[in-house]
Amino acid sequence: MANIRGFCCFECKKEVGYSPETAKRLYVCPACGGNLEVLYDYKKIGLSVSRKSLENNAERSVWRYLDLLPLEGRKFAPPVQIGWTPLYPSKNLGESLGLTHLYIKDDGRNPSASFKDRAGFVAVARALEQGEKVVSGASTGNAASSLACLASAMNLKTVIFVPQTAPAAKIAQLLVFGAQVITVKGTYDQAFDLCLEACAEYGWYNRNTGFNPYTREGKKTCSYEIIEQLGFKCPDKVFVPVGDGNIISGIWKGFRDFYELGLIDRLPQLVGVQAGGSDSIMRAFESGGPLPAVSGETLADSISVSIPRDGRAAVRALQESKGFPIHVSDAEILEAMTTLARAEGVFAEPAAAASIAGLKKAVDSTRIRSDETVVALITGNGLKDVASAMKAVGKPSLIEPNMGALRELMADNARKL
Ligand SMILES: Cc1ncc(COP(=O)(O)O)c(C=O)c1O
Ligand SMILES: [Zn+2]
Repeated sequence: MANIRGFCCFECKKEVGYSPETAKRLYVCPACGGNLEVLYDYKKIGLSVSRKSLENNAERSVWRYLDLLPLEGRKFAPPVQIGWTPLYPSKNLGESLGLTHLYIKDDGRNPSASFKDRAGFVAVARALEQGEKVVSGASTGNAASSLACLASAMNLKTVIFVPQTAPAAKIAQLLVFGAQVITVKGTYDQAFDLCLEACAEYGWYNRNTGFNPYTREGKKTCSYEIIEQLGFKCPDKVFVPVGDGNIISGIWKGFRDFYELGLIDRLPQLVGVQAGGSDSIMRAFESGGPLPAVSGETLADSISVSIPRDGRAAVRALQESKGFPIHVSDAEILEAMTTLARAEGVFAEPAAAASIAGLKKAVDSTRIRSDETVVALITGNGLKDVASAMKAVGKPSLIEPNMGALRELMADNARKL
C-alpha cells in the first residue's frame, strides 16, 4: 500500500491518514458513516507509471496497474486472467446508430463472466494480506459469483448472501466455486443489511459494494484499459449501467487517476444508465436532493436496487464528468440485447444490455454528436441469465427428425416471408 496517502469521506469530506493499522478493516467514515474514497500519492506513482512504462509492460491483466492499486503486492493473485478485456470497434451497431467511433468494452469476458472480477480480485488479495480467513458479501449475484470464483483457488472461505430471486446461473456459479450460499427471502437490499450484521457478529471480512472502499479501486482498471486500448486517447462519452453506483464511480476514478498522472489531457463525460424502476441515482441527480428509495423493479437483476449503496459517489461522478443519467424500460433492455448480439456477436445479460438501450435513447434524443468517440461498457455475459434472454426472443422450431418435416417447415417459413 506504499502509494496510498489516506481516505476521504464522500459525505463529510473528512480525511483519514493511511497507516497499516487504520487501513485494516476500514470500511466507512469513522466520523459520519459515509463511504470512503482511497487517496493516492500521484507524485510517487508518477515515478514508476508513465506512458512509456505502460507501453513496455508485457502483462495483459489488471496486474499491470499494481502501482495504482491498494495492495502490498502480487502475492495473492488468483490463478486466472482478470481484465484486459477486448475493446471492439463497433462497425455494425455504430453504423445503424449513425456513430462513426463506437466501441464495445466486453467485460463479460472476465473469469466469472462479469465486470465484478475487477473488484473481486482486490477484495480477495486485501483479505489475504490482512490475514483474513473468511470473506462475506451480499450481492445481486455477480459480485458474489466473482468473489467465490477468485477466492476458491486461494484457500479463502466465502459466505454469500443473495436474494432468492437471483438468476439460477449465478447461484450455480456460487455453488460450483464452493461458496457457502445463503439465499434470502427478500430483496438485495435486505440481503445487504443481513450481511453487515452477520459480519459484525461472526468477524468475517466484508466485501459489500458501497461499504468496502477497495472495490472501486479494482473497478477503475477498466478505464485505464480503455485509455490504453484507444492509444492514450480519451473517449468523449462512456455509457455505464448503474445499480448501486460503484461501477460508475470506479470508472470515474480510473479516468481521473490517468488525468492526474498526465496520461490524458481531458476527461470523458459519463452517462449512467438505470432501469426505470431502479432509478434513484437519476432522481437524486435531477433533484439535487437525497437519494430516494425506489421500488427497484426491473428484470435486469444486477441493477435492481432500492437504495443505492454508492449513490453519492455515482451522482458526483455524473456531475464532475458533466455527463448525465438516463433511464430505460425492460422492453428497451430486451430489444438492446438482441440488437447488440446480432450486430456485434456480443451476448449481454440484461443489466449490461442497458448500456446499449441507454445509448440508443441518447442518440434518439440527439445527445450525442455522430463523430464523438463513444464507449459502451458491457458488464456481464448473457449466459448469466438465460431466462431473461429467452423473453427477448421467440421459441425455436420443433420438428420430427426427418427431411419431410424439414421441407414442410422450410416451405411454411418461405410462405411467411
Ligand atoms: C452486470 C452488471 N452490470 C451493472 C452493475 C451495476 O453496478 P453498480 O451496482 O456498482 O452500479 C452490476 C452490479 O451488480 C452488474 O453485475
Ligand atoms: Zn464522513
